[in-house]
Amino acid sequence: MSGVWSPESWRSKPIVQVPEYRDAKAVASVEDRLATFPPLVFAGEARNLKASLARIAEGEGFLLQGGDCAESFAEHEADNIRDFYRVFLQMAVVLTYAGGSPVTKVGRIAGQFAKPRSSNIEKQGDVELPSYRGDIINGAEFSTEAREPDAERQIAAYRQSAATLNLLRAFSMGGYADLNRVHQWTLGFLEDSPQAERYGAVAEQISETLEFMRACGITPENTAQLATVSFYTSHEALLLGYEQALTRTDSTSGDWYATSGHMIWIGDRTRQPDHAHMEFCRGVKNPLGLKCGPSLDADELIQLIDILNPENEAGRLTLIARFGDEKVGEGLPKLIRKVQSEGRKVVWSCDPMHGNTLSTNTGYKTRPFDRIMREVETFFDVHAAEGTHPGGVHVEMTGQNVTECTGGARAITNEDLQDRYHTHCDPRLNADQALELSFLIAERLKAERMAKGRATRIAAE
Ligand code: PEP
Ligand code: CO
Repeated sequence: MSGVWSPESWRSKPIVQVPEYRDAKAVASVEDRLATFPPLVFAGEARNLKASLARIAEGEGFLLQGGDCAESFAEHEADNIRDFYRVFLQMAVVLTYAGGSPVTKVGRIAGQFAKPRSSNIEKQGDVELPSYRGDIINGAEFSTEAREPDAERQIAAYRQSAATLNLLRAFSMGGYADLNRVHQWTLGFLEDSPQAERYGAVAEQISETLEFMRACGITPENTAQLATVSFYTSHEALLLGYEQALTRTDSTSGDWYATSGHMIWIGDRTRQPDHAHMEFCRGVKNPLGLKCGPSLDADELIQLIDILNPENEAGRLTLIARFGDEKVGEGLPKLIRKVQSEGRKVVWSCDPMHGNTLSTNTGYKTRPFDRIMREVETFFDVHAAEGTHPGGVHVEMTGQNVTECTGGARAITNEDLQDRYHTHCDPRLNADQALELSFLIAERLKAERMAKGRATRIAAE
């Protein structure tokens, strides 16, 4: 891909997965207004995230990325955000303490509103309507009115993102994330969860460590890292008119940044090298994610990397592998070997959700938890075999006690799915399952660390 980049240069490229707005004037008016609104994030924050990811690309640390498949306008309660944040912190603590690894925390939140779809239309009985594409575009309800793309929804999405981010910043900096509260994060329905005991044991050890540190004079009052958390936001950069309107030059560096979130990613369906989504993303300096599914071959991956990260900057690009548990063992090594042999610096992350979706005979989209766990296990196995660093995980999850993915310690069955199936798009891990997954990852991280330690000792002898 060549040519001069500008925030609107994507407009002259082919594009897929976009809504057909009937009223072009209304779209232009919305984009003009958005362009005058304050940025949601700061370039300096995106640079800090990039620096954190750069360390992971060099083999140190782990990226925890997760949140809703699609945020919704209907569920914007503070409790919802808090419950997500709480479980996310619990997962991060498990990975940091039990896994012994610094964790970079990135939510799929405060902007994750636009969805690619496998079909442009949805059919129910004899009725055909445009597919639901996320609340920023149209409504989920199956009616002609709801499914009509409405540009004004972008303003609502922006405002919801701003309010969500505001609360997340308050939680991160205002005391909620203080490590001394590690026991309190487990309040609510998780108390009787199968993971509660395990988490309680970790929390207990952390409390003892904090007591010891306090005795040594290290307290949250004098050490910010104990009382605050660096939390970043991310979403799929799908609705490019919205993204463009929030793309601004950074006054300190003169570079362009997408200010709709700290990190943005390109989905598996929109990564054609000569298309609009690649064009837009190559020009902004944010850390980028690229979804890598079974249809991506190794040579094409190098081509995409060269477009998105021509300077081979560590931390710029996170490859999010989403093969499915049956394909990851064969597909991932091919990509890793090519990237290694070409010397490209990337973070390898595992999305164990999007390759493991199936439909039940009762019509629910679900994901069996054992397949999710297996994909993560295989991801770690492959990296151990290739001598590369398993750098992160990317999950769809919620802090709520939903029944969307089958299995897990509470053994959710196909029949249970109807109880609390609330997602607006793909099935998410519930709080229990998310925590269970983090314990598995922590064990694997610990094993990786010990193997590395052994290798270093042998090399030194
Ligand atoms: C997603 O992350 O919600 C998604 C649609 O993923 P993918 O592009 O990997 O299918
Ligand atoms: Co999804």
